[in-house]
Amino acid sequence: MHILVTGGAGYIGSHTCVAAYAAGHTITILDNLSNSSPESLNRVEKISGRRPRLVVGDIGDRSVVRSVLDSEKFDAVIHFAGYKAVGESVAKPWEYYQNNVAGTLVLLDELRRHGVRNFIFSSSATVYGNPDPKDLPLKETAPLSALNPYGATKLWLEEIMRAMAAADPAWHFLLLRYFNPVGAHESGLMGEDPAGIPNNLMPYITQVAVGRLKELTIFGNDYPTPDGTGVRDYIHVCDLAEGHVAALAKVADLPGCTAINLGSGSGVSVAQLVASFEKAIGRPLPHRFGPRRPGDAAACYADASKALQLLGWKTKRNSDDMCRDAWNWQSKNPNGYKNA
Ligand code: NAD
Ligand code: WQD
Repeated sequence: MHILVTGGAGYIGSHTCVAAYAAGHTITILDNLSNSSPESLNRVEKISGRRPRLVVGDIGDRSVVRSVLDSEKFDAVIHFAGYKAVGESVAKPWEYYQNNVAGTLVLLDELRRHGVRNFIFSSSATVYGNPDPKDLPLKETAPLSALNPYGATKLWLEEIMRAMAAADPAWHFLLLRYFNPVGAHESGLMGEDPAGIPNNLMPYITQVAVGRLKELTIFGNDYPTPDGTGVRDYIHVCDLAEGHVAALAKVADLPGCTAINLGSGSGVSVAQLVASFEKAIGRPLPHRFGPRRPGDAAACYADASKALQLLGWKTKRNSDDMCRDAWNWQSKNPNGYKNA
């Protein structure tokens, strides 16, 4: 298949390019490089021996989207492009709604004009809001809510796609709800390279381990969880990438709009992840306990059975693999793609 990958230079996008090449697909990327480096595509080429065509442009720029869609015929779109930082979305709501929602509306409009209707969307477990413990593990039918503008953009885009599919049966939308993507390609050539101080746990841990940050603060040790620290469903980014390849294989057979969790199906606590990471680096990781982070849920993990049933996909890599690969990447690239 020839796939248009928006946001393909980013963290999940670049890993998905490698998995899609392994499956024999052809790739064009549309990315404005607002949160990524084209160096990631040099790394894709090193691993895959193939280099995606990169169009540097914005999904909300109709003339760019139109010229990409006029230039080639696409079988499917994987739509990663968007802003993703929860805290930043509270400070800059307009930018989040504009980039994520308005940008995607332009993209969808041009896709329907060009007759491209196989669409795989990066949704998020954020659409489950702060889940009620009785709903765990979360099925796709669990109640949805948004706790911040970022979450609202995912929820609204899902709603828009559900309505578009109901109105036009030619659409095939797969809403892939990712849980907590972490880790890196096993080669150590590609990984997560956040700008500024990381908000998320794993890049914070790896930057402490490499000496860029002093110590990890574990946000809360008094949650109603087995060890008191927050529980999440961490998923290795290469498993996630393979989930997209599985989705590509099935999207044409799944008309309408289908939400699918991409998670491992099991919960891991912050303290457990830190212990796995300490095993990977062979030394203690400097950390202390601090107060809970406002808005955090005690526990959030997927029921991953729908992905297995519909896509024939499940995760293969565990927390030790995630920590080993995240550390391999960070230790070989202490400053990420900068100065590469
Ligand atoms: P990322 O920031 O590394 O990748 C996003 C890419 O999109 C970047 O390369 C960025 O330059 C590009 N981009 C942003 N706005 C754009 C625009 N208007 N036009 C063109 N390109 C644009 O993020 P990621 O972690 O790879 O996430 C990919 C997608 O998955 C996002 O939609 C994110 O919301 C979603 N998601 C991520 C996580 C996570 O924890 N990483 C979890 C759930 C869902
Ligand atoms: C994980 C756990 C923290 C940092 C976010 C988004 C979600 C999705 C994935 C995009 C929690 C704890 C963290 C630290 C810590 N992204 N933690 N110290 O909050 O589960 O999910 O990323 O869609 O929408 O909300 O991920 O990595 O920030 O936190 O103790 O310095 O680690 O409290 O229990 P989260 P996270």
